[in-house]
Amino acid sequence: MDLSKLPEPVNLDTIANNLADAVFLVDREMEVVWMNKIAEEFFHISMQKAKGNKLAELTAITKLEDLLNEVFEQQTALKTSYEEASVKVKRHDQRYFFKIAINPVFHEEKLWGALVQFTDVTRFHEMEKIKTDFVSIVSHEFRTPLTTIIVGVEMLKEGMLGDLTPRGKEVLEAIGSDCERLNRLIDNLMELSRIESGTIYVEAEPTDVNDLVQEAVRPLRIQSEQQGVELITDLPPELPPVAADFNKAVWVLANLVGNAMRYTDKGGTITVQVRQRGKRLFFSVQDTGSGIPKEHQDKIFRKYVQVSGPGRKGTGGVGLGLAIAKDIVMAHGGEIWVDSEVGEGTTFTFTFPVYQGNESVTLPNAEQEGG
Ligand SMILES: Nc1ncnc2c1ncn2[C@@H]1O[C@H](COP(=O)(O)OP(=O)(O)OP(=O)(O)O)[C@@H](O)[C@H]1O
Ligand SMILES: [Mg+2]
Repeated sequence: MDLSKLPEPVNLDTIANNLADAVFLVDREMEVVWMNKIAEEFFHISMQKAKGNKLAELTAITKLEDLLNEVFEQQTALKTSYEEASVKVKRHDQRYFFKIAINPVFHEEKLWGALVQFTDVTRFHEMEKIKTDFVSIVSHEFRTPLTTIIVGVEMLKEGMLGDLTPRGKEVLEAIGSDCERLNRLIDNLMELSRIESGTIYVEAEPTDVNDLVQEAVRPLRIQSEQQGVELITDLPPELPPVAADFNKAVWVLANLVGNAMRYTDKGGTITVQVRQRGKRLFFSVQDTGSGIPKEHQDKIFRKYVQVSGPGRKGTGGVGLGLAIAKDIVMAHGGEIWVDSEVGEGTTFTFTFPVYQGNESVTLPNAEQEGG
């Protein structure tokens, strides 16, 4: 569409000033060249005053500098995650959440600057919070009656309340294992809502890698024997300690091994390996199981995503394990990814930093002040 042919009295200003988003145009120095009315109103500054000032300083959103640098380097639209590209801004005692979009601007095929756009996602954030709180309360409320049921089932199974028929025992076994499943699900939901509410901190302490691996693998040894799957740990001697929250790190590793166990048949092998590369330790869990199709490999780290397909047994989970694992690993400043070939097997790898001294990290989606 040719914008110079807009019907009178509409022109480009009309469009720019009637957008719902605050928009800035910056040059290569990241200095403001132009802004729309919404931007003037929201950031409470006139275009005259704003011109020639660095956008990051003007808005007090320091991370804009890194985000702009990224766009200028890549010369493509900003591609970071939602967490990285969103920001909390306080104004008149009110909190706003913005999603930041940045697009490079070219002039005669050369990078000239960028358009920075702030979309108000406050309402969306509030909904998320309501959902998180709800999940947290409900899972908590489920816990108490479930514990009573589990104890009751145990007492019945052990014959403390009299003899059972063989059929009765079978039914009880089934109830018992379903209770375990529910228990695990509740655990995961509670962990997830703690992470999402951004209220928990990861206390990164010097953690012995051997202890960590043994603690994660121990509960799964019996299962691997019953299932006829070999479980190998491969750790070089004298690894430095990692900076990690012990229980959370164990949780991540145990979940990956648990997954591997689910998708590996009799005769298969699961190898837990740790290697050091520079200031990071690489933990990998390799299995010889069913593998994950390429098209699903990005998605499995999202909440409630499970891959279905031939040869996949009913797994009993709900698809939260990897989403939580990713949050925990990222909170430690690490990364997690998957390599997999269908029919050959899967390797999940995550990194933790080598312990360097006193430090504690906040979760990535913990609330951030704008600047
Ligand atoms: N080692 C593996 N081999 C094959 N597929 C896997 C493996 N690990 C994960 N997957 C696939 O990724 C999906 C997501 O895993 P995730 O751990 O998040 O959920 P889950 O194990 O199904 O349930 P939950 O962890 O909540 O009990 C799984 O449902 C499965 O389809
Ligand atoms: Mg899982």
